Amino acid sequence: MKKILVINGPNLNLLGEREVEIYGKTSLEDIENETRKFAKINKIDVEFKQSNEESEIINWIQGCMKNNYKGLLINAGAYTHTSIAIFDALKAIKIPIVEIHLSNIHKREEFRKKSFISEVADGVIFGFGSYSYILAIMAINNLLTNKND
Ligand code: DQA
Repeated sequence: MKKILVINGPNLNLLGEREVEIYGKTSLEDIENETRKFAKINKIDVEFKQSNEESEIINWIQGCMKNNYKGLLINAGAYTHTSIAIFDALKAIKIPIVEIHLSNIHKREEFRKKSFISEVADGVIFGFGSYSYILAIMAINNLLTNKND
C-alpha cells in the first residue's frame, strides 16, 4: 500500500456546521471515512490531519518524505490565499502534490482567486464539495502510477 498524507487547514474541522450552503453538510470525519474507503480500493493508505495552526501544517509538510509519504493532498483553507510559508514548505518536498477545495474558489470573492498552493501543486481539484477529495485520490493515484512508484 502506498501511503499518502491529506492535510486540512483552518476551520475545516467545522465542516458540516460551517456555511453549509457553500461547503455542504458532510463533516470532515465523514469525508475522511469516505476518502479512506475509496483510497483502499486503489491500494492507497491515507493519513488525515487537520490543524488551525500554520506552523503545525508546515511541520507536517516538512515531515512528508521522512515519514515515507508518496504523495500529498492539501486543502489549506484560507492559508491557500495568504501563506508564503506554506508555499515555501511545499516547494521543498519532492513528492506529487494535489491541491483541493470543496468550493469553486473562482466563483467566490476576488481574494480567493489567488492561490499560493497552485503554483507548486501538480494539479488542483475544486468545486465538487466533499467529492473533491475522492477526485483528488484518483488524481494522485494517477500521478503515482505514472511514476511507477
Ligand atoms: C476552502 C476555500 C477557502 O477559500 C476557504 O478559506 C476555506 C475552504 C474550500 O475547501 O473550499 O476555508 O479551502
